[in-house]
Amino acid sequence: MTASTSVAAGTEEALRPHAEETFAAELAALAAADDRPRPARWKLSPWAVATYLLGGTLPDGTVVTPKYVGPRRIVEVAVTTLATDRALLLLGVPGTAKTWVSEHLAAAVSGDSTLLVQGTAGTPEEAIRYGWNYAQLLTHGPSRQALVHSPVMRAMAEGRIARVEELTRIPADVQDTLITILSEKTLPIPELGTEQQAVRGFNLIATANDRDRGVNELSSALRRRFNTVVLPLPASAEDEVEIVARRVAQIGRGLDLPAAPRGADEIRRVVTVFRELRSGVTEDGRTKLKSPSGTLSTAEAISVVTSGLALAAHFGDGVLRAPDVAAGILGAVVRDPAADRLIWQEYLETIVRERDGWKDFYRACREVSS
Ligand SMILES: Nc1ncnc2c1ncn2[C@@H]1O[C@H](COP(=O)(O)OP(=O)(O)OP(=O)(O)O)[C@@H](O)[C@H]1O
Ligand SMILES: [Mg+2]
Repeated sequence: MTASTSVAAGTEEALRPHAEETFAAELAALAAADDRPRPARWKLSPWAVATYLLGGTLPDGTVVTPKYVGPRRIVEVAVTTLATDRALLLLGVPGTAKTWVSEHLAAAVSGDSTLLVQGTAGTPEEAIRYGWNYAQLLTHGPSRQALVHSPVMRAMAEGRIARVEELTRIPADVQDTLITILSEKTLPIPELGTEQQAVRGFNLIATANDRDRGVNELSSALRRRFNTVVLPLPASAEDEVEIVARRVAQIGRGLDLPAAPRGADEIRRVVTVFRELRSGVTEDGRTKLKSPSGTLSTAEAISVVTSGLALAAHFGDGVLRAPDVAAGILGAVVRDPAADRLIWQEYLETIVRERDGWKDFYRACREVSS
């Protein structure tokens, strides 16, 4: 079987177009401006890939929007790794853009972010190696035609980037399938007495969640095949507000929500609440807080603001206000109905209530909490 062509591809109708489609214009402008050496089969040079991720202005005036907000060095190391014989492992707590960075890296390097294996406890070896089309297998016996290529096998054949999501959720014996692929750069097919060798340009990006550590720890043999890059939480509130605002605007456009030129204050408040509860201390560093059990990641802040904006658009005047985000915040903070609720009440009464200019926010949160 060959490439599964995406049914909605090329139409305006895909609910979430792939990165290489959404940012096709930026990628084309980068390719045109890029005169640096490109590794075999790369669409862009490592420098241009990093610029695509971090943003910048090209000599012809094209503005490349930042996709990842964070230390430049992290992106440089990640991109460089892909040009070596080691694979890339993106590690971090939930919501630190591991999947996001992996998609954009694959889109920029190979022009294709779709060669993806989603790791779960039930991921079989066939998802990483190959399977068989049983109708073909029964009529013709084992043959090339009967072979069903996994995304990894296709990436090897085409010299592209393959992605494996949530690597540590995959059972250890299945994970180990990757060892031969990554060290020998080949995939034996004993049934046909042949192999699929990786073509230059092939590499692999895996993501793994810090919190899953211990679920299926990577074997040291496999770990050695990866260069590990840890994605940190946003360093400052400003960075986090920028990430949320940018992403919310983008998602909002996809959902035909009006952009919120006003309402930016609300984003700052959501981010402040998330950061304070996550770190266990107020922004000014004066008061210690208890942290609830949820992760309160940037990704969750993005969804709280997006749903708030949808509420404001459909049932309000389109401006994001405290009551639009209050319920979302409560849902994100209170995961464990007993302990988290206490922590939230205490935070509301001791911090939010006393804060200048936060009266409306306090009232809105009180209303949904009671
Ligand atoms: N530093 C950042 N720069 C840009 N976007 C970010 C950043 N941190 C988080 N995001 C945003 O957060 C959202 C969620 O990120 P993503 O799903 O990639 O997280 P993840 O690390 O894969 O989480 P999980 O461990 O739950 O799979 C994305 O929409 C991304 O835009
Ligand atoms: Mg992810």
